[in-house]
Amino acid sequence: MKTFKKILLWSLIGFAMIQFIPTDKVNPPVDRKANFTDIRKTPAKIQGLLKGACYDCHSYETVYPKYAYIAPVSWSVKSHVNEGREHLNFSVWGTYNRDLKESMLNKAVQTIQNKTMPMPGYIVYHKEANLSDAERALLVKYFDEILKSGSY
Ligand code: HEC
Repeated sequence: MKTFKKILLWSLIGFAMIQFIPTDKVNPPVDRKANFTDIRKTPAKIQGLLKGACYDCHSYETVYPKYAYIAPVSWSVKSHVNEGREHLNFSVWGTYNRDLKESMLNKAVQTIQNKTMPMPGYIVYHKEANLSDAERALLVKYFDEILKSGSY
């Protein structure tokens, strides 16, 4: 029992201590001239879907939930955001070259269709990201049309 109490106490102290390790949750400023939805003049309905399901990890417009302020959950959230932005960042879309845009549009279609995006773990806590089949179809159609138009 004594050891158990010690372990518990030290775990609590450890938990308290890690709260002081900062994670950077300040969004870099968004350049409207480079932002995907501004450049493409994305219709409001599609914009709503993208902002609700993708922008938290794939833009500089991340809205952090309350649980993202508690370590160690905060570390996991921030690492997903960092990794997501590294792969695809809609806020800097305008800086991508044509090949990269084409590849991202294709991958967006694939990941939405095979339901690997939005990340399944994220959907559990974000109802608005739990896209219906109809909403997925709308997004796929939107990205597909941009690809077919060739103007990207
Ligand atoms: C919770 C964070 C999160 C959300 C929300 C999210 N993604 Fe991702 N996304 C990631 C991470 C992390 C990666 C990189 C690792 C991987 O591929 O799983 C990624 C990878 C991708 C890639 C692959 C890029 C490449 O280089 O291969 C595409 C495309 C993508 N996401 C599109 C989307 C779209 C479209 C949405 C919304 C429908 C979305 N994601 C929502 C975190 C997220």
